[in-house]
Amino acid sequence: MSTRGHLEVKNSHLILGGVDTVTLSEQFGTPLYITNEARIRANYRRFKEAFPDAEIYYAAKSNYNLTVLKILAEEGAGADVFSGGELHCALKAGIPSDKILFNGNSKTDAELEMAVKNNVRISVDSLDELRTLSEIAHKYDNLVGISFRVNPDISPRTHPKIATGLKESKFGIPFKEIIVTYKEAQSTENIKIEGIHCHIGSQILDVSPFLEATKKMINLVKELARFGIHLEFIDIGGGLGISYENEVAPSPKDLADVILPVFVEGTKALEIHPKLVLEPGRYIMADTTILLTKANTVKHAYRNFVGVDAGFNLLIRPAMYDAHHRIVVANKADEKSSSVYTIVGPICESGDVLARDRFLPKIEKDDLIAILDVGAYGFSMSSQYNGRPRCAELLVHHGKVDIIRKEESYDDLLVNQVLPSRFR
Ligand code: LLP
Repeated sequence: MSTRGHLEVKNSHLILGGVDTVTLSEQFGTPLYITNEARIRANYRRFKEAFPDAEIYYAAKSNYNLTVLKILAEEGAGADVFSGGELHCALKAGIPSDKILFNGNSKTDAELEMAVKNNVRISVDSLDELRTLSEIAHKYDNLVGISFRVNPDISPRTHPKIATGLKESKFGIPFKEIIVTYKEAQSTENIKIEGIHCHIGSQILDVSPFLEATKKMINLVKELARFGIHLEFIDIGGGLGISYENEVAPSPKDLADVILPVFVEGTKALEIHPKLVLEPGRYIMADTTILLTKANTVKHAYRNFVGVDAGFNLLIRPAMYDAHHRIVVANKADEKSSSVYTIVGPICESGDVLARDRFLPKIEKDDLIAILDVGAYGFSMSSQYNGRPRCAELLVHHGKVDIIRKEESYDDLLVNQVLPSRFR
């Protein structure tokens, strides 16, 4: 079995955070999301060490479990939030409001109000939004700090569904219109210009698009300074990729080595020394977590299909992006691979395939399949499709186990549904 980092094998069993995953399945049932706290902290610290002077605004969309947010708050992280819900969770977790940036291309007035009332900075996506925000800030007699989200027109080599800085993307203000936009904001009431923001995409395995983005942002900042607009922060977003299969992934240090010299040199001449902000999500969370699922059936049809108890209701990445997640047979973790299997979920859709044609040890009914690297965009993208309650989430830490989210029940599927009286 190929494990990496914090995963171990003992007596043929997969061990995470010092805890035997087979024992966890007996205690808590399956499916189960299991997260290793030590790995979250180690990933965060590795990132922070590479960027000691930068602010790290963890991308809450990747995993907004309250305990995860609390751990990162303890480590000193801020947050990039993309909805009122994520803002609510970040504040509940104790992330200070001055370390939160509210992003989003289509915020509701209620979300803007929530940010204004909580003194949270907003990354504004359009002039239309700026005007609405100004009215809301006026209503609350508040001065709201903003950045604009720039569309830098950069093409990172990643899945098209997660490239966000292409010129045709829905995010941000076109590069060419940025100066005019800032000028309008300069004279907009109740608005304080503080920063500039971009995010070019996700799962990026080459540092050069980040360098290109940094250069473009610094040039904009210099140009803005000529108009008397001095920024306090430059946020270049998240997007650092990880190795899901055998890809060579740059480390935070590799990223820092490329962008920091340009950032430091570029900002030296400016009146104010802007802070660098980064918004990693996947790098911090992806490899901290496994999804443990049980084989319900094994059948040989056109392929060897293993039907497990988790499907794209719990992990949509393979179906949505053809994403590869490594598979370990958790109760046979050191057995030799002998056959090729396709791991499929129980959802009534042929696209419900979690892993295709994997060479694995012999799989039988009730064997445990661990799907690796699911801590980012795993649970946070789950649904109740096909009437399937979501599973529990556990946190393991040096041999200890905590439930950090209870599994849902069948009644939870109905909890917010209301039967009109004539049907009762
Ligand atoms: N900042 C902004 C404004 C973002 O939109 C994102 C991700 C991030 C930061 C964090 O990016 P990261 O460091 O995690 O790559 N569901 C997809 C990924 C969508 C990413 C959306 N934005 C997936 O499962 O691959």
